[in-house]
Amino acid sequence: MSDGKSTTWDANLYLKFADHRMRPALDLMGRLDPANGARPGHAIYDLGCGAGNISRILAERFPEAPVVGIDSSEEMLAKARSQTVDARVTFQKGDLAHFQPDLPPGILYSNAAYHWLDGHIDMFPGLLKLLPSGGQLAIQMPRNHEAPSHASMKQAAEAGPWRDKLARVRPIAPVLEPARYYDALKPLCSDLEVWETIYQQPLTGKDPVAQYTSSTGLRPYLELLQEPERTDFYNAYAALLAKAYPTRPDGITLFPFRRLFIVARRA
Ligand SMILES: C[S@@+](CC[C@H](N)C(=O)[O-])C[C@H]1O[C@@H](n2cnc3c(N)ncnc32)[C@H](O)[C@@H]1O
Repeated sequence: MSDGKSTTWDANLYLKFADHRMRPALDLMGRLDPANGARPGHAIYDLGCGAGNISRILAERFPEAPVVGIDSSEEMLAKARSQTVDARVTFQKGDLAHFQPDLPPGILYSNAAYHWLDGHIDMFPGLLKLLPSGGQLAIQMPRNHEAPSHASMKQAAEAGPWRDKLARVRPIAPVLEPARYYDALKPLCSDLEVWETIYQQPLTGKDPVAQYTSSTGLRPYLELLQEPERTDFYNAYAALLAKAYPTRPDGITLFPFRRLFIVARRA
């Protein structure tokens, strides 16, 4: 359930929060070496590219390299293709668990995708080995699974008549302690940066945090339920979040969100 293949991505709902989701993508991109994009014959891969927003920015930042977005969701790929005019940016259907590049990669970049894959840490050394010496692997994953936004999913799932149906949801593959990624990659790297940032995301509107997670972590739960149970479950979850993330007098709901970043340079 959590591999992103068997479920449908709602590209429009995901893009509703594009600004908040874009910020870590750009922070990650900021640590890439511009000289890498100029390697003749080498491509930049955007792994789990979604609607291609970041793929297009990668192409702007690295004007000499082909950029290839890979995703398993037809819906996301359709959105990506319909929004992209630059012929240097192309999109391919593929499963990150079995990624094999058609072109030699100079940069492998992935924003908010690998946490959907069980055992992702074991895939990262293999990704690094696909790169030439000096090539960069850049990965960002949310590490917010212990926060109320994610813990409340389980709590709401266990507290209603939907309990048995939702017991089938496999929790999202947890993102591990930063040092685990450091240890897994360091032997293959000349440079390795691992860091975390907690973004204080200012949200507005009704149920803003539940709306935010509806297109990502909550999706596998919602997809197992029919109406009216689906809405009842959503409301139970949203009520838990309203307590955990109160709306402030100025109408803003702050949603702290922890993210893990890895930028590795192949030795
Ligand atoms: C949260 S979105 C991130 C999209 C994009 N990177 C961004 O930052 O806007 C996660 C994406 O990973 C894709 N994905 C999840 N599991 C995947 C897999 N096993 N293979 C390929 N893509 C996958 C989903 O289809 C989705 O488009």
